[in-house]
Amino acid sequence: MAAMKPLFKVVVVFGTVTSVLTVILTLLYNRTGIYPVHYKVSNRPFTFSEDANRPPGTSLRSDFNTLLRRYSERPGLREFQPEDAPDKYSNSLLAIEVRNNRHEKTTVDPKLNNAVEALLAQPIINDHNFEYIHNPRNACSNSPTDVLVTVPSAPGNWEKRMKVRNSSRGDYVRDQGNRARLLFFVGKGNSSEQDRIDEEVARFGDIVQETFDDVYKNIRLKAVSMLKWTSAFCQGADFVIRADDDVKINLMGLVAVLKRTALRHEHFILGRVKVEDDPARDPNSKYFLSRAEYPRRKLPRYALGGLLGYPVRTVTLLYQAALRTKPVWLDDVFITGICAPKVGVELLSDPSFDFTHKEW
Ligand SMILES: *[C@@H]1O[C@H](CO)[C@@H](O)[C@H](O)[C@H]1NC(C)=O
Ligand SMILES: *[C@@H]1O[C@H](CO)[C@@H](O)[C@H](O)[C@H]1NC(C)=O
Repeated sequence: MAAMKPLFKVVVVFGTVTSVLTVILTLLYNRTGIYPVHYKVSNRPFTFSEDANRPPGTSLRSDFNTLLRRYSERPGLREFQPEDAPDKYSNSLLAIEVRNNRHEKTTVDPKLNNAVEALLAQPIINDHNFEYIHNPRNACSNSPTDVLVTVPSAPGNWEKRMKVRNSSRGDYVRDQGNRARLLFFVGKGNSSEQDRIDEEVARFGDIVQETFDDVYKNIRLKAVSMLKWTSAFCQGADFVIRADDDVKINLMGLVAVLKRTALRHEHFILGRVKVEDDPARDPNSKYFLSRAEYPRRKLPRYALGGLLGYPVRTVTLLYQAALRTKPVWLDDVFITGICAPKVGVELLSDPSFDFTHKEW
């Protein structure tokens, strides 16, 4: 009997220590926020969606905690509903996009495929059948290409093109490790401009030129020519960055944002998104849009054409939509505001896609 006493003591001490430890650990566990039950990422309940692009080997829990950590540093965080805990949605990935400090869910809509199919079944109403005056058709296929930088340019802008080639954009493209290409897109200019372009092509080989007249009113044709060329000759790349010849960009940063975004979205356009813009109704305005061409009071939500980024698969979709959609001449309104929503392409804002036009 005397032998039981020390054993009893050991059991009591062990029991007490484990209970206290459990309490402390539970408190710590909850305080650190590792367990997400204490957070809410949205005012509204949100759901989780399948995401085939989730990198292999990442667990739902780690994805969720990464997202949570990121969002918990932002204002507007409320309490998370326990029933939204991710455990019961194994094999899914939370997809949220932060826009203007509002946390919005993004779901992959199964109806989307039907919408795309329905659109593609529609007849082509704006065929884009211009001849190429210059076509560096192997620019992407000559060597491995991940990123294509497309620059809309006017025939007479040879100085700007020189500056672009000589900018950090040019440096980035010349660095073989970046697997990037830079191409300018121009329409037809007058004969003296054409001579210069022919010289430029001989020297740099980086100009795509079609036969439509290069006048401002034809910017839609130029934008479509860029989508078309990419669909036809650069399918192997991952991303396209479209940047005007007078916009300064940090290519490395933009590519990083595109890669990150592509983990959570299939089809998207990154840019500077404009909401509730008024159409210019003054006939003297550079951007004049007649009521006959566009009767609505407000422009659709769209992204400014000066700087945009998208996956190549999205470019293909946008090109097909552009062929089948009643146009407005303003290319960015047409492609990002009217064509994109028809084929379920999301418009996303990111501060790294803010830009200003500049004098070089
Ligand atoms: C061609 O266009 C340029 C502007 O880029 C202009 O300066 C020039 O006078 C034009 N030449 C002809 C022959 O029209
Ligand atoms: C290119 O940049 C270098 C300096 O970085 C400068 O010396 C040169 O004149 C530039 N060339 C053109 C065509 O702008």
